[in-house]
Amino acid sequence: MAVMALLIVILKVGVGLLALPVYVLHFLGLWDPICKRFFSFAMSIFARYLKDKMRQYKKELFSTLGDFAGPSGQLTLLEIGCGSGANFQFFPNCCRVTCVDPNPHFQRYLSNSLKENKHIRFERFLVASAEEMTQVANASVDVVVSTLMLCSVKNIDTVLSEIKRVLRPGGAYFFLEHVIGHASSWTFFFQQILDPTWQRLFDGCHLMRKSWRNLEQAGFTELKLQHITLPIMLNAANPTVLGYAVK
Ligand SMILES: C[S@@+](CC[C@H](N)C(=O)[O-])C[C@H]1O[C@@H](n2cnc3c(N)ncnc32)[C@H](O)[C@@H]1O
Ligand SMILES: *[C@@H]1O[C@H](CO)[C@@H](O)[C@H](O)[C@H]1NC(C)=O
Repeated sequence: MAVMALLIVILKVGVGLLALPVYVLHFLGLWDPICKRFFSFAMSIFARYLKDKMRQYKKELFSTLGDFAGPSGQLTLLEIGCGSGANFQFFPNCCRVTCVDPNPHFQRYLSNSLKENKHIRFERFLVASAEEMTQVANASVDVVVSTLMLCSVKNIDTVLSEIKRVLRPGGAYFFLEHVIGHASSWTFFFQQILDPTWQRLFDGCHLMRKSWRNLEQAGFTELKLQHITLPIMLNAANPTVLGYAVK
C-alpha cells in the first residue's frame, strides 16, 4: 500500500516535471490567457472525437427534452459551459437556446456548430460563469443542459443552486459529466497521477470529482441518475454520470 502511494507520488511529480514549462508560465501569470485559447481549440477537436462515442447516450438522454416544454409547446433551453456547441444536434426543433460560457474563445467554434444546426433558434451567448448567471432571470427556462462542465466549475453547489434559480418549477437540468474512477481501477490510478497537471493544462478540469453526490444533495424534487463508462480508450475523464434532475 505504502509502495503504491509512493509510486503515485513519484509519477505525479514526473508528469508535473514534463509539464514544467506550463507551471513556469502559470507562475509568471502568462499561462491563463494562453490556456483559454488553447483549450477552446483543443476541446473543439476533442468534442469531434467524442461525438461518435457519445452519440447513443446523448441521443437517449436528450430524447426527453421536449417533455419539459412550456404550456405553449415552446421549449426554452439554457446550455451552460456550452463549449463548441457539441450538443446542439440533439436539441429539439425550434427550441430557443441561450448559451453561457466564461471562455469567449469558444464563440467562433459555436458559430460553426450553429451553421450545421439550423433547426434550433439561437438567442444569445453570454460570457459568464455558471456560478453567477445574473443575466438569466429567475424561473425563466424550461431546461438547463450541461455536458463535461461540472468538472471545470469553481463551486458545484453554487452552480446547482443557480441552475435551480433559473429553472421554472417543474423544469429540468440534464447532465452528462465525468467523475472519479472506482477505487480499484486503473482509471483511478492514472487519475491520481494526472489530476494536478490535467487541471493546469485543461483550464481547471478536475478528474476526481464526485459530482453525483452534489446532485443528490441539491434538493431537486426528482433525480434520475445513471453511472456508465463511455467506450473511450485511454481516457482519464471517465466513468460518467448522466441523467436529469427536476426542480
Ligand atoms: C470540457 S469543456 C466541455 C464543453 C462542452 N460542454 C462539450 O461537452 O463539448 C468544459 C466547458 O465548461 C466551461 N466552463 C469552465 N468553467 C465554467 C464555469 N464556471 N461556468 C460555466 N462554464 C464553465 C469551459 O469554458 C468549457 O467550455
Ligand atoms: C430570485 O431567486 C433568488 C433565489 O431563489 C431570490 O433570492 C431572489 O429574491 C429572486 N429574485 C427575484 C427578482 O424574484
